[in-house]
Amino acid sequence: MSKNFDVVVIGGGPGGYVAAIRAAQLGLSTACIDDWKNDKGGPAPGGTCTNVGCIPSKALLQSSENFDHASHTFADHGISIKGMEMNVGKMLARKDTVVKQNNDGILYLFKKNKVTFFHGLGAFTRAVEGGYEISVSGTASETLVAKHVIVATGSSARALPGADFDEKTVLSNTGALAIGDVPKRLGVIGAGVIGLEMGSVWRRLGAQVTVLEALPTFLGAVDEQIAKEAFKLFTKQGLAISLGVKIGAITNSGSEVSVDYTDDKGAAQKAVFDKLIVSIGRIPNTRGLNAEAVGLKLDERGFVAVDADCRSSLPNVWAVGDVVRGPMLAHKAEEEGVAVAERIAGQHGHVNFNTIPWVIYTSPEIAWVGRTEQQLKADGVAYKAGSFPFLANGRARALGDTSGMVKMLADAKTDEILGVHIIGPMASELISEAVVAMEFRASSEDIARICHAHPSLSEATKEAALAVDKRALNF
Ligand code: FAD
Ligand code: NAI
Repeated sequence: MSKNFDVVVIGGGPGGYVAAIRAAQLGLSTACIDDWKNDKGGPAPGGTCTNVGCIPSKALLQSSENFDHASHTFADHGISIKGMEMNVGKMLARKDTVVKQNNDGILYLFKKNKVTFFHGLGAFTRAVEGGYEISVSGTASETLVAKHVIVATGSSARALPGADFDEKTVLSNTGALAIGDVPKRLGVIGAGVIGLEMGSVWRRLGAQVTVLEALPTFLGAVDEQIAKEAFKLFTKQGLAISLGVKIGAITNSGSEVSVDYTDDKGAAQKAVFDKLIVSIGRIPNTRGLNAEAVGLKLDERGFVAVDADCRSSLPNVWAVGDVVRGPMLAHKAEEEGVAVAERIAGQHGHVNFNTIPWVIYTSPEIAWVGRTEQQLKADGVAYKAGSFPFLANGRARALGDTSGMVKMLADAKTDEILGVHIIGPMASELISEAVVAMEFRASSEDIARICHAHPSLSEATKEAALAVDKRALNF
């Protein structure tokens, strides 16, 4: 006997579980299928983000930052600690607890919102009268029929040819979040978001970290001035970053791994590491979905092909999050999930791609929204720029973290804010003001005229806005 639903969501990551909750809130009978298993084989909804992504990485970033502060900056505050040591096992157990709290939270939210949850692999079987038949193979086998299907199956780490992830020596994000002892020599291939965040965690705990990046520019998507500052700060912290390399043979002996590469001058190099993290981007998850059974179209890169509103090639089949085009970010997946649920319910869901913030949770953090200076130049837009260093911010001095700046870019004629770029303490929180301002199409003068609490890091944003008009007060 099949079970009928208005909406079946395949995938319970941030795109899928949020879409399911919103659909149920709107009165649609909704099911969500997710196959992620915890270490006991039980359900662990939340996808990559909750299990091996955003949440555990931020837990480890916090633990390692606490250790770093205790080792290096507490003394400035008059605090001395004798016999301090790092218990990596305990740090990992804490991270696992944080993950489990999030898994349990999602199961609770499903109950609260009357979303029916199925633990197992969801696959299209066939199109049927008024919808689609979907099989669930898991602890129990089920057949579901859905009027609308939302595909939210996410993404997985991309491996380098000839260097499969064994998660012991050659690590994807999964292994990088579960290293049992601080490795002496840690290699990272790819100086992107994962490489820098994970490299920072293990460097702070004492690993010698070497990052090998194919592109000649560091953090190409980031505003050039901010990326330059980041490179300087990360290198000073001890991350050895080589740009413009070409990776050759990777040999995994089980206890160590050697990487042959050509450096930016064309010279052959070999590096040997105890662990190697490969973080060179991610690929969409469509295996197991049986997209062929219903003729669901994928694009040339294997993503589910969708239009701007997340409509697939099939009527009433939608797709959101990492499995479709656009930035692979949890909040982007969530926004798409909500918008699709609202469209199914006949409302006008909306996602503004121009105001999706990015954050890299290194120390200092990097956060931005809107266009970079190099993009504005390429687009031929006349702009004004204002920046303010945290060095001149009272709260940053009190915190003992004065690295970085806030930079604001505004249209030369209309003064509309076109981009805000931050490197510095709590950039992840500070960027929200810029997102709100850009959503409301604010001018730099609007921010400059708004009262900001003193002393706060947010005053740096106000001062950057004043600097657009060359009238910063404290610098
Ligand atoms: P996913 O989270 O990948 O979830 C998809 C789910 O569907 C998974 O549970 C998968 O097992 C399941 N699934 C797949 N196929 C099927 C099937 N056929 N049947 C049933 N279930 C299926 N983003 C941020 O915004 N901020 C961060 O700080 C951040 N940190 C990250 C750190 C790391 C180390 C990594 C790897 C990623 C990070 N991301 C971050 C990216 C973020 O995790 C993804 O953008 C987000 O998880 C995408 O959500 P999703 O719902 O599309 O897919
Ligand atoms: P990424 O796209 O951020 O970085 C990959 C890097 O690897 C790039 O700099 C690329 O040039 C480089 N690269 C590619 N092929 C290479 C090769 N053969 N040799 C050497 N370098 C190579 O991808 P990453 O770090 O794997 O993360 C995947 C995605 O997960 C991110 O793009 C982001 O969307 C998401 N994420 C978001 C986080 C956040 O929001 N804070 C944190 C971590 C991940």
